[in-house]
Amino acid sequence: MSARLLGTSQRHFVCCLCLLLIVPPQSARADDRSWLPIAKDGLRDSSGPAVKVLQQPADALSPLTPDNAGNQVRWVRALKEGQINPRSSLRKLLKSESYEKDVLLNLNGGMPVVRFPHSVHNEWLDCTNCHDHLFKKQRGATKISMFLILQGEQCGVCHGAVAFPLTECGRCHSVKRADALAELEREAAAQPSATPPPEPAAAPNTPPPARKTEGKAR
Ligand code: HEC
Ligand code: HEC
Ligand code: HEC
Repeated sequence: MSARLLGTSQRHFVCCLCLLLIVPPQSARADDRSWLPIAKDGLRDSSGPAVKVLQQPADALSPLTPDNAGNQVRWVRALKEGQINPRSSLRKLLKSESYEKDVLLNLNGGMPVVRFPHSVHNEWLDCTNCHDHLFKKQRGATKISMFLILQGEQCGVCHGAVAFPLTECGRCHSVKRADALAELEREAAAQPSATPPPEPAAAPNTPPPARKTEGKAR
């Protein structure tokens, strides 16, 4: 009898067997990622009952698109490719507002321009997770600084905590300055009303001397 024809309880049994087989030596695929087991990750009480019940990170995470930073999963891709399908709520489905605009930040610094993608964030978050206590709803209105980010404020509330770490400079600083300015010009030109042209405005940071940017837009 093939596994497909087994009854529910037998299937559960087979699943348990599979889990047992997978856990200790980690998956045998060509994937050198590894995660600490729950009892040793330093986050939970290793003598508590939950340690025996919770799914091991290696089980949960190894099927997902790999990343070389953070917890080794490229979460944005895992979501886009349908590998995960998070619920908006435990009870009823919550529909968040949609807003897709990319906001270009850091137009005056020495580092490449930062592309903040609303679309990516709104797949996981609600507007109120950021607006207006972290960021105002107007580009350039918030004094954003790398110093504050590194101290766990602004983008650093999540990045380096629950989202990819701050060591991945190029994932935020991803746009060459010239490309960013051209993009803003196109945006302004496409606007029907007579909005003034984009100001490379209000620099909270004094630009360091121009140097070759590491702007490899990924
Ligand atoms: C999570 C996104 C993010 C990551 C990761 C990140 N930055 Fe930034 N960075 C920003 C934002 C946003 C600003 C501020 C933009 C502004 O001034 O409006 C900024 C500003 C800066 C500035 C000051 C302005 C400038 O260009 O001179 C420097 C320097 C800087 N970042 C360097 C780095 C370096 C080096 C790394 C990697 C170690 C890094 N950043 C990683 C988002 C990020
Ligand atoms: C992860 C944080 C985050 C979330 C979630 C978020 N935003 Fe934003 N939003 C920002 C940042 C950062 C800016 C730029 C602020 C600045 O430059 O001062 C911004 C700017 C804006 C702007 C101004 C854009 C412009 O070009 O002037 C609007 C409008 C906006 N957000 C609407 C929304 C709406 C609607 C939602 C929910 C559907 C949302 N945002 C969710 C971080 C966020
Ligand atoms: C409230 C939490 C939160 C804040 C604040 C936040 N982010 Fe994010 N960000 C996330 C999450 C969650 C993801 C998706 C998971 C991941 O990529 O690690 C994400 C993903 C991203 C991505 C896409 C990465 C990819 O793989 O394509 C970029 C770029 C980014 N954030 C930049 C920023 C910048 C710049 C700021 C500040 C202006 C910021 N984020 C503030 C939570 C946040």
